[in-house]
Amino acid sequence: MPHLRNDALRHTHNGGGSPMSSQFQYLFSPVRIGNLEIKNRVVSTAHVTFFAENNMPSERHVHYHSERAKGGVGLIVHEAVTVHPSSFPYEGIIFGYDERVIPGFKRTTDAVHQHDAKIFCEVFHKGRQVNSILSRRSTLAPSATRCIRNRETPKVMEKEEIEEIIQGFATTARNVREGGFDGVELHCTHGYLLQQWLSPISNKRTDEYGGSLANRVRFVVETIDAVRAAVGNDFVVGIRLVGDEFTPGGLTLRDMQEIAPLLTASGKLDYISVSHSTYFSLEMVIPPSYVPLGAFVSLSAGIKESVEDLPIIGVGRINDPVQAEKVLADGHADLVGMTRANICDPQLANKARDGRLNDIRTCIACNTCIGRVFSHKPVTCLQNPAVGFEVTCGVDATKPAAVRKKVMVVGGGPAGLKAAETAAIRGHDVTVYEKDGALGGQVALSEKAASRQEFAGSVRNLKKSLDALGVKIVLDTPVTPEIVKRESPDAVIVATGSAPDRSGASPLFPQMDGLPGADQSNVLTYRDVLKDGANVGQHVVIIDDESHHRAPAIAELLADHGKNVRIVTALPRLGMELAPNLEQPFVYRLLQRKGVHIMTNTAVKAIEDSTLITLDLNNNTSDKIEGVDNVVLVMGSVAETALYRALKGLIKELYLVGDASSPRYAVDAMFDAFHAGLAV
Ligand SMILES: Cc1cc2nc3c(=O)[nH]c(=O)nc-3n(C[C@H](O)[C@H](O)[C@H](O)COP(=O)(O)O)c2cc1C
Ligand code: SF4
Repeated sequence: MPHLRNDALRHTHNGGGSPMSSQFQYLFSPVRIGNLEIKNRVVSTAHVTFFAENNMPSERHVHYHSERAKGGVGLIVHEAVTVHPSSFPYEGIIFGYDERVIPGFKRTTDAVHQHDAKIFCEVFHKGRQVNSILSRRSTLAPSATRCIRNRETPKVMEKEEIEEIIQGFATTARNVREGGFDGVELHCTHGYLLQQWLSPISNKRTDEYGGSLANRVRFVVETIDAVRAAVGNDFVVGIRLVGDEFTPGGLTLRDMQEIAPLLTASGKLDYISVSHSTYFSLEMVIPPSYVPLGAFVSLSAGIKESVEDLPIIGVGRINDPVQAEKVLADGHADLVGMTRANICDPQLANKARDGRLNDIRTCIACNTCIGRVFSHKPVTCLQNPAVGFEVTCGVDATKPAAVRKKVMVVGGGPAGLKAAETAAIRGHDVTVYEKDGALGGQVALSEKAASRQEFAGSVRNLKKSLDALGVKIVLDTPVTPEIVKRESPDAVIVATGSAPDRSGASPLFPQMDGLPGADQSNVLTYRDVLKDGANVGQHVVIIDDESHHRAPAIAELLADHGKNVRIVTALPRLGMELAPNLEQPFVYRLLQRKGVHIMTNTAVKAIEDSTLITLDLNNNTSDKIEGVDNVVLVMGSVAETALYRALKGLIKELYLVGDASSPRYAVDAMFDAFHAGLAV
């Protein structure tokens, strides 16, 4: 292994021969990791995609990663692959220990290398943070302590199992090398097996692997030794290390500053990537918009202080190149993970390098991507519907239209804007018509709730893009068939969105067409509140039948205006459609702080003036909520299809997209609209 020089970490002149924005002296300077030179400091850290087929890498991996390499990212870390059959956490996992992975790995690494990027592969065992549902084997861990999420009691690893798992890491690392990767990364964060040995909360052993720090690092050190022996000295071996477990009784940064030098002392590691948490603090791992930007750079900075001369990767809510440059300039890390930023905009690095900052589609930390993965579905992005479909819809796959058409997009919500953007990229002459005085529809309105402001960034990104593409915008214009006739477009994309359902009908009570009393004047919809602000009485009840972001956002907005707010839902929890363990904890804490009262398992049977007649679904008893000034219905939406129906048969090329087709989450509405933009 070549000796790592001190100056390898300092920024040097841009040697890549590409035009470099002088704004990014650090970000676009090369950096050495082990025997490799990485062309810049932008890293896409490991992320599960669920693209695997039969637990092997698939063509989707090839194109997904090559798209990001083409977009200029310096280093990609491939998603974690498992080192042993006892760690089989989900069906989409790649069996890294099985040599049949090598050809698939090779296709991905070859594709990435064509774009002058480097690619490592993360290898892991989940230890106690997995269950035996798929593996049909005992879960293995240092001690028989249970994980907060997978509540099985693991088997205490015996000496033979210790050796077998370490061998699994070594075998997998060898497959990684054979698969053409430039390096292997040991996953020792997020609470997985390697970390479990380090931590006093999961390692209660009294043998030579437990107790003192020297004993607790033993398993990890032996794994590093075995992996290094398996791959040789001319191959990069790194570790993704926990910077703080954010778990009561767990490892802190101070502990990790003691541990990191013990792991690196042998000189067998080439870099450290710093992340954090265990499953106890899972919601911090992929921090949603409730977490401030760059919230974890103190961890990479802290680890960097404790180990000299080793490149350190920092990560967590670094979503724009200016911020990334500052992290590097401040010396808080040597490379920056910009993972969701690159999922969202695979061309981010090239755009930054070329000074096209305004063209970057900034990630809004909505966590739709990881939400899908947690639901065991392929990764996607709310703002980038091409994720996972790079072959057909990727940056270069989006072909100019054969004939330039005059395209009329009716509706300036996210779906309309996405359709307009895609059609304009393909060279069409596009005009967006919006009935209101501003673009953005419901998403833009939602930014009135403080915690949803970043979400509205999806609309800001689209507006920027439409501006740059020269799309014409016509506001305050409800489109009629006459206007369409007058404009005589070649194609019309109807994205007229949806309106709140005012009936109070709920699928929980299929026998009823609506909620008795929903037509009273003190009953409002979420849209009324968002449009008119908090023009309501002091005591407000929100009936939440959607279990997503809307009701909490309305509650936050009203509570911030000093209202006394209660959310009533017939479901067992609030926000059941939000990513569990990712967003829910933040929403609950926020509402608690704001003093919002939450009643679950409670159906509203009727509204009688200022009284709500309720039914406690736990014990089937009726009750009342009295003294309610206003009721706000968050009870689904109704598609706005009038224009579409009027145009059907009149316009040859007519598309119906987004909520106007069927009201649903923004990610699916945008996906739909994107495809209309490709089809037109
Ligand atoms: C869809 C998704 C899957 C992830 N899977 C992994 C993984 O396999 N291994 C890992 O170490 N981190 C994983 N992460 C965490 C990321 O590597 C990264 O630490 C996190 O997204 C925070 O960085 P960001 O704010 O730049 O996105 C995943 C993140 C996402 C969004
Ligand atoms: S889905 Fe949301 S959080 Fe994930 S990459 Fe896209 S914008 Fe970012």
